[in-house]
Amino acid sequence: MNRARWGAFLVAGVGLAALTRAQDPAAMPPALPLPSPAPASPLAIGDYRGAGSCSATACHGSIRPSAAMLSPVLRNEHTTWLSDDAHARAYSVLFNQRSEGIARSLASSARPYKSAHLDERCLACHATPRPSAVLEQTHWMDADGVGCEACHGASGRWLSEHTTPGWRDLAPERKAELGMANVTALPARARQCAGCHVGDHEAPGGIPVRDVNHDLIAAGHPRLNFELSAFLANMPTHWVEKGNNGEPPAGGDLRPTRAMAPDFSARAWALGELATAESALRLLESRAKKADQKTAPWPEFTESGCFSCHHDLRDQAWRRLPRPAGDDAMVGAPRWGSWLFAEIDGALAATVDPAVSRPFAEALKKVRALMNGSTAPDARAVATAAKDAAEAARRCVDAMAGKRLSANEVSRLIDRIDTWTGVNGWDEATQRYLALAALRQSWAELDPSRKADQDGLARKLEEIRPRLQFPAGLDSPGLFDPTRLRPGSSR
Ligand code: HEC
Ligand code: HEC
Ligand code: HEC
Ligand code: HEC
Repeated sequence: MNRARWGAFLVAGVGLAALTRAQDPAAMPPALPLPSPAPASPLAIGDYRGAGSCSATACHGSIRPSAAMLSPVLRNEHTTWLSDDAHARAYSVLFNQRSEGIARSLASSARPYKSAHLDERCLACHATPRPSAVLEQTHWMDADGVGCEACHGASGRWLSEHTTPGWRDLAPERKAELGMANVTALPARARQCAGCHVGDHEAPGGIPVRDVNHDLIAAGHPRLNFELSAFLANMPTHWVEKGNNGEPPAGGDLRPTRAMAPDFSARAWALGELATAESALRLLESRAKKADQKTAPWPEFTESGCFSCHHDLRDQAWRRLPRPAGDDAMVGAPRWGSWLFAEIDGALAATVDPAVSRPFAEALKKVRALMNGSTAPDARAVATAAKDAAEAARRCVDAMAGKRLSANEVSRLIDRIDTWTGVNGWDEATQRYLALAALRQSWAELDPSRKADQDGLARKLEEIRPRLQFPAGLDSPGLFDPTRLRPGSSR
């Protein structure tokens, strides 16, 4: 498999690319446990400074990457973000025709028209998320779009100390207390991304709910299809990715290395699945609570697979197939979490100690039974079950902080996931494809002796990819048929 070609393609209409990374396989230091982020105290106006305050040439606005080998940072982060990164344009998108259409469709007699760029529901993700009271007084920051503080944390409490020489020696825990998110560590990073790319409830620091629900989607918003490994590969990096949670290299050599952890893609995939679950369950809890108070639609359609309701009206035989024993629904029937939870079992089995993963698996089963058990699930019961499951998911994400995956673990995961029978629709097929693309990448980095098998898997994925792509001009998979995914089946 040609690596450049591998990295270049897009899946379907979702803009998800599989990936390849230039990395030096290197022995990794032993894993260290990482603390959970400190609970955020309420954020105030002075806590936000905007992206402009990071853009000085000597700080992060250099034109070219820093040549200083001893500096761990590139110093051109602001330049990369501004010129190459979609996040810097997230606010200006709210002025385009599509946003205008969304805003018009959302207006009703009960809710007068509001331009998208003034609508808090949109600003929650298309600008740096801030508590409502702060947002009202810091609209000057909106134009940054998703600025530095959206991922790295509100900077007011750390900015001045951050410019002193002692900053580098501060422990990540101390930086987190000051409000700087430790995105070097994958758990915190995955949570930051999922907050906007999956959505989230109203957070303790006062960050408002972030929700792309079916109302927004029916009005014209793209569906959110997040998978961490592919999204990290697609984001123009303004850092040197080491994938090692920032742990010092073995032997106490503190000089920065450019060597990346070989299991990074696989770990990002697994952790991304778990962080997605955590975010999605918190969002479900808040949707269900509102539904219980009759302030939100219920059932919320985005909780189920889109293409179970939206598909070509022609009869498709695979939709009438029975599910495996123990599952009484029809294949293709609306079912909960078809995108979000498609590969969660594999991710859990491979990565998290059963003592931590079992309570989550059980809590998730309860949510699934409630959501799939009725066309109008009991909202109050769902809210409680989702809250418990989100809490259990949080522990799984944290438990992965120090986890490293071996070649054997990755190859076992591939064996488990690489089956193409019983796939229930496009969501499952695409998630399976993305999982395998990430796992194959790490397998190749971890164990070059299995190159022939890895190339075989790559060829299989190449064959499956076009079957996932949306037909030209369609915003859905059209006549996609999961029974034709098996390699060798005719199309
Ligand atoms: C939960 C976070 C979230 C909320 C809330 C949200 N968006 Fe988005 N929006 C996104 C993300 C993430 C993308 C990129 C999707 C992708 O490519 O995966 C996006 C993409 C878009 C796009 C397409 C991008 C383009 O280049 O044209 C438009 C338009 C848009 N959003 C408008 C809106 C409007 C208008 C609102 C409010 C009514 C809104 N969004 C609310 C997260 C959100
Ligand atoms: C969409 C999320 C996101 C946005 C927006 C963002 N960053 Fe980052 N940034 C990251 C991630 C993820 C890393 C990787 C952290 C690591 O590996 O240490 C990173 C790394 C960095 C690093 C290197 C840290 C280190 O210890 O190696 C610097 C410096 C940085 N970002 C500055 C900025 C600045 C300045 C902005 C705004 C112009 C910005 N970032 C915007 C996500 C983001
Ligand atoms: C504050 C909300 C927010 C956060 C946090 C965030 N994003 Fe985004 N992201 C967006 C929005 C909104 C867009 C769409 C912008 C546009 O279309 O111009 C986007 C776009 C993207 C895109 C381009 C998607 C496409 O289809 O072209 C990638 C890749 C991406 N984000 C990756 C990440 C990663 C990785 C992280 C975490 C390190 C992250 N994002 C964190 C809101 C966010
Ligand atoms: C339980 C069935 C169901 C599910 C699941 C569902 N929808 Fe819908 N969708 C509908 C119905 C009914 C309408 C028309 C009423 C309305 O606009 O809400 C609709 C309308 C829409 C529209 C407006 C355009 C049109 O054809 O009328 C879009 C776009 C859309 N849905 C996309 C999605 C996406 C994307 C998902 C998955 C995230 C999804 N839907 C999940 C039933 C569903």
